[in-house]
Amino acid sequence: AGNKTLTIIKPFAVQKRNLGAILAKIEESGFRFCAIKTLKLDKHEAEEFYIEHKEKPFYNELTDFMSSGPITAAILEKENAVADFRFLIGATDPSEAKDGTIRKMFATDKTHNAIHGSDSDASAERECDFFFSKRERL
Ligand code: CMP
Repeated sequence: AGNKTLTIIKPFAVQKRNLGAILAKIEESGFRFCAIKTLKLDKHEAEEFYIEHKEKPFYNELTDFMSSGPITAAILEKENAVADFRFLIGATDPSEAKDGTIRKMFATDKTHNAIHGSDSDASAERECDFFFSKRERL
């Protein structure tokens, strides 16, 4: 039981073959996988997913990057999933991320930061629905 969060293992992490190591780290940290798939977003889909950042200066770079190659999206379950997962992944900027966090280990910069985690329960709900149909969600 517990609540849910949505993660994306971003392009580069998938291409650099860090996917297995990242998924193992997530499981070791107490999260259960409810759903998982690898797919590629087109630019329009990336813009829709990150719509809340539409006015930010990094929106174009972010959505270009997120549509540049395969990603792996997953729904994770744990008590306090959203906050605990954000702690596990670390700061958005990997140069500020603490030792042992996924971004410290696998990210290169703020755009190429290896992994996404929902920032609230409401975002998690929207993001899970974005990637997974009712049938795919446990
Ligand atoms: P993510 O958790 O996927 O959610 C929004 C993304 O925007 C974030 O990860 C970063 O990759 C990106 N981002 C946030 N702030 C900046 C910034 N100042 N410059 C570039 N990218 C950013």
